[in-house]
Amino acid sequence: MKVTPNVLNQEQTSFLVRRRVARLATADESGKPHAVPVCFAYAPPSIYIALDEKPKDVPVSRLKRVRNILENPEVALVADRYAEDWSLLAFVMVRGRAELLDPDTGEHAAAVRLLRGKYHQYETMKIEENPVIAIRPEKAASWGALDEPESSEAQILDTIHGRRSVRRYLPRKVPDETVDQVLEAARWAPSPHGRQPWRFAVIRNVQTKERLADAMGEEWRANLEMDGQDAGIVEKRLEGSRRRLLDAPILVLLCLYLEDLDAYPDAERQRGETTMAVQSLGAAAQNALLAAYDLGLDAGWMCAPLFCPEKVVEALGLDPKLVPHALLTLGYADGDPPKRRGRKGLDELVVYRD
Ligand SMILES: Cc1cc2nc3c(=O)[nH]c(=O)nc-3n(C[C@H](O)[C@H](O)[C@H](O)COP(=O)(O)O)c2cc1C
Repeated sequence: MKVTPNVLNQEQTSFLVRRRVARLATADESGKPHAVPVCFAYAPPSIYIALDEKPKDVPVSRLKRVRNILENPEVALVADRYAEDWSLLAFVMVRGRAELLDPDTGEHAAAVRLLRGKYHQYETMKIEENPVIAIRPEKAASWGALDEPESSEAQILDTIHGRRSVRRYLPRKVPDETVDQVLEAARWAPSPHGRQPWRFAVIRNVQTKERLADAMGEEWRANLEMDGQDAGIVEKRLEGSRRRLLDAPILVLLCLYLEDLDAYPDAERQRGETTMAVQSLGAAAQNALLAAYDLGLDAGWMCAPLFCPEKVVEALGLDPKLVPHALLTLGYADGDPPKRRGRKGLDELVVYRD
């Protein structure tokens, strides 16, 4: 089947990757329609839908949507947002052709990984044993406030569960006000004695990103070579990391700033102060990541500055008292991220000592 290049524009893509549910419409040979709610993942140019093992009256091959696709591959999928505030209403509708991917194909395996990354519930379901529906979009239509951040009715736990590390962005500008809102969330993080021992550098310009990528790349190259990595692999990894920096619309460098911390006569308590500062930098980072997601942005975390803080300070002309620790990338995800790590269960993480 012919795969059409991307037919969704950037706003439609950003809207679609954030939706957890859509409605899939199929029709049989005679054109009789059928619609069902579906979980889906979007990796441009295709949309994937699992056929899960939930108890059903019929085996997957007898499901009406499957039979319809076999008889007539024309489908439509609509994903929408409803809110009592009607200025927030929006939908994206995609029309295209569907096919069933066999479990022994590479695309099927990639689609299963993608779906499990988006929906942790699939981790324990045998979706790899069933075909996956792949929709090849041919037309997209949309309406409404696609660009609005998610409704304030969303609960904090939805934001925590929805956030994921994004490593590929659309070439789409992020408004300065939205970046400010992300930083606003970061500055409200808890910190030792309320001292806020961190500062943030925002990088938007491509030349500055290049300077930063060059500085960090040099250090990383030396480290990889020291590890005895194959030259070809070193080049590939460096190029991948450089692209990630250059293609992210916004970079936020999180730096420690230790000047305002309490001073102690003994090294042990001083180390404790520094550790607390690092802990609170992590809290500021998480505030930023959650706010970004809540505001309709996506974000990623890169640790590279931690390994060459002086070089980063020099490349960006920063105050030498700043200690670069982490880099957050901000933008709009280009499709659902290909990978998301699962989580350990609470039984493994928690002990109760009542
Ligand atoms: C301190 C820290 C450093 C990280 N460094 C990197 C990094 O350098 N590159 C990267 O791709 N992801 C990095 N990550 C992101 C993790 O890989 C990611 O959070 C983890 O795989 C879980 O996936 P999720 O964020 O999508 O839930 C880092 C995360 C943390 C907390």
